[in-house]
Amino acid sequence: MCGIIGYTGPLDARRILLEGLSGLEYRGYDSAGIALCTVNADIELYKKVGKVSNLKEYCDRRSAAAAHCGIGHTRWATHGGVTDANAHPHRAGRVTLIHNGIIENYHDLTGRFRLEGQLISQTDSEVAARVLDQIYQGDPLAALKELAEMLEGSYGFCVMFDDQPGNIYAIRSVSPLVASCTRSGSLVASDLTALIPYTREYFVVPENHIVKLTPYKVNVYSLEEDFPRVVPEMMCVNWNMDAAMKNGYPHFMLKEIHEQPEAMKNTILPRISRGLPDFSEDGIPDELFTGCSQIHVVACGTAMHTGMVARAVMEPVLRIPVHVTIASEFRYEDPLVDEKTLVIVISQSGETIDTLAALRLAQEYGARTLSIVNVKGSTIARESDFVLYTHAGPEIAVASTKAYSVQLAALYMVACRMAYVRGKYSREEAVRFLTDLLDSVPAMETMLTQADFIRGIVTHIIQSPDAFFIGRGLDYAFSLEGALKLKEISYIHAEAYAAGELKHGTIALISDRVPVIATATQEHVFSKTISNIREVKARGAYVILLARESAVIDSGLADVVIRIPDVDDRFTVFPIAVALQLIAYYASVGKNLDVDQPRNLAKSVTVE
Ligand code: F6R
Repeated sequence: MCGIIGYTGPLDARRILLEGLSGLEYRGYDSAGIALCTVNADIELYKKVGKVSNLKEYCDRRSAAAAHCGIGHTRWATHGGVTDANAHPHRAGRVTLIHNGIIENYHDLTGRFRLEGQLISQTDSEVAARVLDQIYQGDPLAALKELAEMLEGSYGFCVMFDDQPGNIYAIRSVSPLVASCTRSGSLVASDLTALIPYTREYFVVPENHIVKLTPYKVNVYSLEEDFPRVVPEMMCVNWNMDAAMKNGYPHFMLKEIHEQPEAMKNTILPRISRGLPDFSEDGIPDELFTGCSQIHVVACGTAMHTGMVARAVMEPVLRIPVHVTIASEFRYEDPLVDEKTLVIVISQSGETIDTLAALRLAQEYGARTLSIVNVKGSTIARESDFVLYTHAGPEIAVASTKAYSVQLAALYMVACRMAYVRGKYSREEAVRFLTDLLDSVPAMETMLTQADFIRGIVTHIIQSPDAFFIGRGLDYAFSLEGALKLKEISYIHAEAYAAGELKHGTIALISDRVPVIATATQEHVFSKTISNIREVKARGAYVILLARESAVIDSGLADVVIRIPDVDDRFTVFPIAVALQLIAYYASVGKNLDVDQPRNLAKSVTVE
């Protein structure tokens, strides 16, 4: 969480930092701030509660100084409330610092360095700044190394030292940082979006290394004795700035919902060879799929929901256990994982701290790990044994949409390849499965044409404080995601239940006109789900039913029916995902809320 950026070079640093922060705002939007090293080598601070637009206005009002070097931060509050004082950058003596992460031993350090009474904010980050100032004796590398040795927790820091005007130092542990030396100057940031306007070439700052940025050079130093220079591995971004702009859509979320068919094709098509899924270009050997006796899927939030779908698709075919666990639980359990376990971790950002910790734990237990990740070069991608990149392009809206679909596409391809190489699918069956997956793409396109219809039916949902999502089997797995999407951007209390479980307690909550969004696309439990819908309808629920085009629905069963294209049972998730995302989107728009940046959330969850 928290977006950070540093710039030094010939251009207007204030403009570059503020524009960069606008692009990073999805990482946190409690407050924003910049520190500029002016042409007279003075440091000026500008910080404001609220969004980057507030900070921009504030900088304009105060006629922020001309500068060619500076650092900027957009905050997702962890330690200390949302106040101007707690906003970054933090200034302590000769040090100005921004931080992404959590310093866990900040309390001990406060005592050890006798900082009580000096602290202006309630943040762990200011403690790090003050400690750094105390240990700094004119050698930034030595001071940063000493600081790193003292700190527990996670951090990405950018630091300016008063006696080093025009230079920026950065160091990270766990929290992400990327950097680049471009024709327009040197940049370091928590995310690529801040770098893309200036370059397509970048490197991931290696853990526990220091990066020094001067206007025309970026050097990386190892923390070993005498700080030897390291040449980082350069990477190239395969998307451009258009992908990170709204391009005429009112919100990123709507744009990203509409990008799904394309993102699906980009993820699937390059991995088909002779009609079958093929991961040889990804360097994934078939032996990874044949050599395991069980699978654990570990992830958080929406990514975890893709695991729930994958289990329902994989287990019946593979006939091996497929467990799905929330990463923040997995990492503190003593999971039944061994060398014969394939652990699949799923993460859009590739930086979610709990998922990363779960991956590391799985590796400690000797499991083989495969990650499904969207952000190239991210920590999870780099640390897992094998990585399958999804090609969704940048996902900017905080609520995940296209990442969900492409994670599923990747998991379905893994399921198909695995079934084939384990002898559970004949070649024909595998080809058929893959063809059905590809047919999901036009089904999603068809669903998108119903956007106006869906916009019209959310009126009832937004009048209610609660909503329930029900379904059986795969339909239950989709419902979990539908409920998450609705609650996170419309603030309507939404819960998903396995339809058959309702009568064991939850049905007590069904009252007159409460919206129940029922999904009934699974043929083998269709009549059972219909019975459950009748039960809620009989108790006054307002039923919105998602069913196939061809399903026969009695009049009076539902108040609204959303028809989804007729695809094979296992693939209905793709058009259903579009429908559920549109319901959430229009509910948020209908309530006039901040669709792309809902309250209390951030896009990349790099704290526990
Ligand atoms: C919900 C959402 C989150 C993320 C979760 C994991 O819309 O976006 O639930 O899915 O925070 O993030 P990644 O996939 O980056 O690990």
